[in-house]
Amino acid sequence: MRKKIVAGNWKMNILPSKTNELINLLMSANTDKIDVVYCTPFVDLHTAISSTKNTNIKIGAQNAHFEDKGAYTGEISFDMLNDIGISYCIIGHSERRTYFNDTDECINKKLIKAFDKNITPILCVGENLDLRNAGTYKDFIKNQLVSDLKTISKEKIASMVIAYEPIWAIGTGLAATSDQAEEICSFIRSCIKELYDADTAENIRIQYGGSVNGSNAKELFSKPNIDGGLIGGASLKEDFLKIVEAAL
Ligand code: PGA
Repeated sequence: MRKKIVAGNWKMNILPSKTNELINLLMSANTDKIDVVYCTPFVDLHTAISSTKNTNIKIGAQNAHFEDKGAYTGEISFDMLNDIGISYCIIGHSERRTYFNDTDECINKKLIKAFDKNITPILCVGENLDLRNAGTYKDFIKNQLVSDLKTISKEKIASMVIAYEPIWAIGTGLAATSDQAEEICSFIRSCIKELYDADTAENIRIQYGGSVNGSNAKELFSKPNIDGGLIGGASLKEDFLKIVEAAL
């Protein structure tokens, strides 16, 4: 049985001075049976870690650099995240791929480093609307997985999380239907089976992300291959608690 995981992606929202307030609002998230993670901006991480200290809520980052240290102005390393007690990191979000030129090669390096530093990656993959309309989205997603996971062993990937995030559904209010999401989450599992083996595919957790809210979460999470969600907009408000409930 895979444990469901619901992660909030706060993106570039929530000032450090407002972090406590949001954490307090979401403090009652039920973590008995599922993993709950808040991926906050870098400057909110410290506050988020200390205000969730006596809970099972985990804190994650949204990006990191693949080098350990050095002359990389403006960057944060996985070593640094590890040093302050971060457990998760989103890697390869489509906004990073699109606006910050995170290529598959760079995402592969980041994944390798995350495993090396004991940080659980949440790897995002997913197609844009053109690929969806052209019907080539499965090939595209498979290529992302092959390139992003290159040379990474099955022992390592067993602990990771993959998020299927169709770009056309992110922040648009137009979530994939549960059937569309299940089709791809199941396809991702079959790719993992092909790249690794059946056991690894069975155990890896695959989330859906893209306009998940308190009303559509239950239906999405009821699908056999959807092990929770990566939540943007709705992770910044009380609705997030409903999403967590939907995963129980
Ligand atoms: P959304 O974002 O829930 O606001 O669509 C999801 C994401 O980008 O992870």
